[in-house]
Amino acid sequence: MTEIRDLLVETRSFPPPPAFAAQAHINDRRLHDAADADFIQYWAEQAATLRWTKPWDRVLDWQPPHAQWFLGGQLNVSANCLDRHLDGARRNKAAIVWEGEPGDRRTLTYWELAREVRTFANVLKGLGVQKGDRVGIYLPLVPEAAIAMLACARIGAIHSVVFGGFSPESLRDRMNDAQAKVVITADGGYRRGQIVPLKRNTDKALEECPTVKHVVVVQRRTSGPITEAHVDMKEGRDHWYHRLMQHANDQCAPEPMDAEDVLFILYTSGTTGKPKGIVHTTGGYLTGAASSTKMVFDLKEEDVFWCTADVGWITGHTYLVYGPLANGATCVMYEGAPDWPERDRFWSIIARHGVTVFYTAPTAIRAFMKWGVEHPRRHDLSTLRLLGSVGEPINPEAWMWYQEHIGGNRCPVVDTWWQTETGSIVISPLPGLTATKPGSATQPLPGYSAKLMDAQANELTSGGGLLVLTKPWPSMLRTIWGDDARYVETYFSKWAGRPDLYFAGDGAKLDADGFFWLLGRVDDVLNVAGHRIGTMEVESALVEHPAVAEAAVVGKAHELKGQAVCAFVTLRDGFHKSSELRDDLREFVAKKIGALARPDDVLFSADLPKTRSGKIMRRLLRDIAEGRALGDTTTLADPNVVAALKEQYEKDE
Ligand code: WTA
Repeated sequence: MTEIRDLLVETRSFPPPPAFAAQAHINDRRLHDAADADFIQYWAEQAATLRWTKPWDRVLDWQPPHAQWFLGGQLNVSANCLDRHLDGARRNKAAIVWEGEPGDRRTLTYWELAREVRTFANVLKGLGVQKGDRVGIYLPLVPEAAIAMLACARIGAIHSVVFGGFSPESLRDRMNDAQAKVVITADGGYRRGQIVPLKRNTDKALEECPTVKHVVVVQRRTSGPITEAHVDMKEGRDHWYHRLMQHANDQCAPEPMDAEDVLFILYTSGTTGKPKGIVHTTGGYLTGAASSTKMVFDLKEEDVFWCTADVGWITGHTYLVYGPLANGATCVMYEGAPDWPERDRFWSIIARHGVTVFYTAPTAIRAFMKWGVEHPRRHDLSTLRLLGSVGEPINPEAWMWYQEHIGGNRCPVVDTWWQTETGSIVISPLPGLTATKPGSATQPLPGYSAKLMDAQANELTSGGGLLVLTKPWPSMLRTIWGDDARYVETYFSKWAGRPDLYFAGDGAKLDADGFFWLLGRVDDVLNVAGHRIGTMEVESALVEHPAVAEAAVVGKAHELKGQAVCAFVTLRDGFHKSSELRDDLREFVAKKIGALARPDDVLFSADLPKTRSGKIMRRLLRDIAEGRALGDTTTLADPNVVAALKEQYEKDE
């Protein structure tokens, strides 16, 4: 692993620039000290920055591994993200500054956004959506995505956003698991000039979604080449968003929600074939989202915050919608690809809107590096004052490039570690306080307790181990939708008799300063361009192909994506390897799951290496895929299988 090598030589350290530290919300350790002294009191103070309609009776009820926060308290997330900002000058402030990929633009002030949300909340009610019902959101990155999420929150419906890059089958499975009543989609979206046929995908998905009674369709074709041909409206089931909005009332009081009422479900990949519906609740989630946004991004009234994530991921939920809006910030939202129409699109957006805080992923930064500095150089990036990174380990070289070429050596860089399950950032520098090191997410935020442990739950103070969170936190997942046993098993059963220890699934190292260096997943989850993909998901897709008898999927180091999907398959009798079949299998996976899961490599093999108990040895396959000397093969049932595979792989390369 390059990170381990780099760690040995990484001695650079960057204290906060004095001018930055002087103006920062946090530039001393008082909050850390307060949280260490009394973490219940600390979280109560963070939660108190929100608007509650009924105060809580109890801050935390911790029955490991189940936590409940702010019990008895009531609040509404949309009221916190909108209504609270309408009393004073903020009402006319831009809440969302949006750009579509074809170049269309829209700005919504807090006043306007609040009105749209109230109106759409009434639309949902009109379609029979009630508190606790599930609503699917399958949209491009348009303002209506945020409007739909907030409208659900307003009436107490539970949203489940599905990334627009997912296939009809992925949408179908998620809607069925959540038993959604309504799906909100669009006629299409744009990606690299191509049209993503979201409505058609939805139609396909809904052939097998008996619980979905209504579909609301946002008309994206007001610009660009999406045409009416992309939609086929089904009488009685499908409704145009703009028509419903014309007839709905724009007044809608926020539903008082219990702190522990579910706010949303978001599906993410795990180590089995079936994605998990991660459940987040109202009070704790918003406390984590709002406080971390303010601290980590040092958010001020005049900031223009751009998080490049799609709302289909947790980063889009927490740092494009809920966190910034709870703070009354201006957020930039961009629908499309970074290289459309040219490779300077991001930099032109920063210059055009005066972005001050920019949050993106290492995979994007590595692509920018490869494309060359001439692209950012063409634009005035002087408004930037802070940069963030999320989604995968950032290699020190990319970190340094980001700091120099995008941040002009003047902006702190915050590398933020967290997960769909954690709801908000857990390990990150505080930009006015922490001396950063390129490639390290540094230390836990106040109120969090991250430790490194070995397989026996011994705490490690140096070297490598498993990352563990040893205390509950407000924005933690509460369960897996419909499968609490899997919640317990996946996250709190790593160490026997210790249901209080949260197993993150990541490996990490600690250096002499107590800084964390994240090393990637230790389970069968891949991180491809910052997206989590379960090896089992891809394997299940592959074995559905008529030619495939068995499949094993591993990650292979990739220069830009961090990891690429590499599949080993054995064929059924009567099928023969060919480059056509290889292409066919790659497309098959893309169609089944979504383009993000398409394997880079497909290798045909007569057999797969297995242990005597029949378990596929992925570690050996990884060695083969990455061209390394083979590790220990003594536990294999048939060592010849690997030798043959390796030989063949080298030939195919
Ligand atoms: C990885 C994304 C290293 C990690 C917010 C984690 C990171 C998984 C970082 C969660 C980081 C995220 N450094 N690794 N700064 N941030 N990861 O659920 O492996 O899509 O477990 O949440 O991404 O991915 P998820």
